Amino acid sequence: MSVKVISNVGDAFAQDVLMINIFGGDFTNEDNLPIKTLNKAMDDQIKQFLSNYPMAANYGEINILHTMKMLQAKSVIIVGSGKFNEMTSDKLRNLSGKAIQIAKKINAKSIGIYTNLNYNFDYADAVQAIIEGVTLGAYQFDFYKSTEKNAPLETIVLVEPDQILVDVAKAIVSKTTVVTDSVCHCRDLVNHPACTVTPTYMAQEAEKLAAYDNFTVEIMDLAAIKKLDMGAFLAVAKGSNEPPKFITIKYTGNKASDECLAYVGKGITFDSGGISLKPSSSMGEMKDDMAGAATVLTAMQAIGQLQPKVNVLAVIPCCENMPSGHATRPGDVVKSMSGITIEIDNTDAEGRLILADAVHYATTLGATKIIDIATLTGACVVALGHVASGVVSNDEQLCNALLKVAKSTGEKMWQLPNYEEYKEQFKSDIADLKNTGGRMAGTITAAMFIECFVKGLPWAHIDIAGTAYLKSSNGYNVKGASGVATRTLIELALDMEK
Ligand code: BES
Ligand code: MG
Ligand code: ZN
Repeated sequence: MSVKVISNVGDAFAQDVLMINIFGGDFTNEDNLPIKTLNKAMDDQIKQFLSNYPMAANYGEINILHTMKMLQAKSVIIVGSGKFNEMTSDKLRNLSGKAIQIAKKINAKSIGIYTNLNYNFDYADAVQAIIEGVTLGAYQFDFYKSTEKNAPLETIVLVEPDQILVDVAKAIVSKTTVVTDSVCHCRDLVNHPACTVTPTYMAQEAEKLAAYDNFTVEIMDLAAIKKLDMGAFLAVAKGSNEPPKFITIKYTGNKASDECLAYVGKGITFDSGGISLKPSSSMGEMKDDMAGAATVLTAMQAIGQLQPKVNVLAVIPCCENMPSGHATRPGDVVKSMSGITIEIDNTDAEGRLILADAVHYATTLGATKIIDIATLTGACVVALGHVASGVVSNDEQLCNALLKVAKSTGEKMWQLPNYEEYKEQFKSDIADLKNTGGRMAGTITAAMFIECFVKGLPWAHIDIAGTAYLKSSNGYNVKGASGVATRTLIELALDMEK
């Protein structure tokens, strides 16, 4: 997909569809340059449409006007945007995403965007939100369809009428497309079934990143993982015939600094539950259990292209959780790489096991702050639904930095407490810890289990069990993998540069 910024309106009028935002309330349509220009080109049709149907300006209303050859564009998408003063970058992103999903239904391959770019918030945020909304909303995954493939959206033409701002907008767009390419890549990795995205496939994807400046990629195979005594990770991996891979990516953007932010992502390429087998009804969805890994990997892809002056370490343990004659049994005790022993009460609580060794490994590689991300608990889906990801942290500063960035990206995250009392729930009678904490506060106990392995470093944990994979389209998110948190992890790394 190509995104162009132009100052000549005619180019936008010449695409398959033209998108404009219409406001009600205090931003009168007479002040709106795009509408004025379009009205002129369309013989007052927009004005007439709005006087007949003022509700079209309400937030979230999307209408299509056919241009009857008055413009080269066949249709105009009228995006009802509510009150001008109430616009936020998140609303703009969602509206643009919703509009493009409708444009795609009328087979648009190109879209001109002629809309207001100046709001009560940052210009860069507005341009970024519109381009994110359109590119992410246009995402489709039809890799396995032999017929009924939809033509992809190929061209986006954004109008910035002020010639002086065209270069500014171009720079924002070029950063934004790096971000959206990463999110779409993340979605692809999660949408592909587990027979395609194996640990080996993830390792190959990681190896591609070695081409970026200041990057080193290391893939450990079974023998190397055994050598490091990663007993918790191996306890999960050993039930499957798929060889496990333990991926480490190091980005050194600031050689002069000892600070190193580690991103650790859960890479269970399929979670059957193991011997504690899941019910079959929605087991197929468990191909998404590597979404944390995909998020970290694709955030690194953007970091590689944007080269912020920070150090970022990515640790991505990948394996399958399967039942077999060589799988771990409930009740087994294993020794993690850190030396902490774990009673495996339930083999379906495998995410915290592989993350225990992964966060510990990050501490041995010089991480000074750790953020782990995982489709970790069904309890998080119960608590926060498909709207927000759960956050648990031991460090106010790191947690606030994360939540602040998440607010700016519109990827909703909500902090849950990590009170000492919860630790009682995952004490084992025969080992140091057990890998379940009972039905109560399941998201918190799972997170606090991982916390036991971070050696007191500032740490935050993001549970994306409810947000990584969506059953229906909404705003810029289309049904299926959302690529959630990729944007937040990228922007956090960029933010840490400051
Ligand atoms: N991968 C699942 C969590 C999950 C649930 C992700 C729903 C996405 C949607 C995880 O490995 C798991 O099975 N967790 C168990 C833990 C329990 C056995 C303590 C759960 O949440 O039921
Ligand atoms: Mg599980
Ligand atoms: Zn899992």
